[in-house]
Amino acid sequence: MSQSHPPPALRLGVNVDHVATLRQARGTDYPDPVEAGLVAIAAGADGITVHLREDRRHIQEQDVRRLMTAATVPVNLEMAAVDDMLALAEDVAPPRACLVPEKRQEVTTEGGLDVVGQHAVVTEACRRLAAVGTRVSLFVDADVAQLDAISATGAPAVEIHTGAYAEASGEQRSAEISRLRGFARAAAERGLEVHAGHGLRVANVGSVAAIPQIVELNIGHAIIADAVFHGLPAAIARMRRAMLAGRQMGD
Ligand code: PXP
Repeated sequence: MSQSHPPPALRLGVNVDHVATLRQARGTDYPDPVEAGLVAIAAGADGITVHLREDRRHIQEQDVRRLMTAATVPVNLEMAAVDDMLALAEDVAPPRACLVPEKRQEVTTEGGLDVVGQHAVVTEACRRLAAVGTRVSLFVDADVAQLDAISATGAPAVEIHTGAYAEASGEQRSAEISRLRGFARAAAERGLEVHAGHGLRVANVGSVAAIPQIVELNIGHAIIADAVFHGLPAAIARMRRAMLAGRQMGD
């Protein structure tokens, strides 16, 4: 990319689910993910992300409602496109929502939405969320074959699942980065805003941050893990530095 056209700024959404994981492990009322969200905002987070899973394993409905009241940056609610979650989202009206596939037994979100196979369900979810003023992104694998279906849902944004990249090494890792780049370019050409997330760490975020079409990263597990040793503000600052270094590398 030429010096005269720098890539747009890269936002960091901090996912605080795993603060709630620690709380739920003991059934206590601490640590509080909402307090973590406020600390993250003070440390410069551009958004706070929470995944209200159907099994309520970490974030609870009350956390989402409290966060919505307390947060001074957009709250991004990750959710499955199922009726009871949609009804709750319609009630809470988060500024952002990210539709994700959900399997009860998975440790974390294992893949992107099948927007081709689930087109009617996803489109209806986008319609219901847009009606309450929520800006929707679809959590998808970097599969260009899905792009026609994604565009047809009316969702203004996609979040690329970076899990396969994060787990790859060597040649496979280069192939995954090429796939992310190609998908980001093709999605942006269709007018979609492009986000990315999953499995990103200080050590691997740079190559994703270097992709100029990506304007937002949502990162949770690695930041909270780092915060255990260094504190949340320092963990966020470290991640930001790594993002910026990657962004400049792509410039
Ligand atoms: N984006 C989405 C849609 C996710 O489901 C998750 C995991 O909850 C993340 C980002 C963050 O992933 P990680 O915790 O691995 O940073």
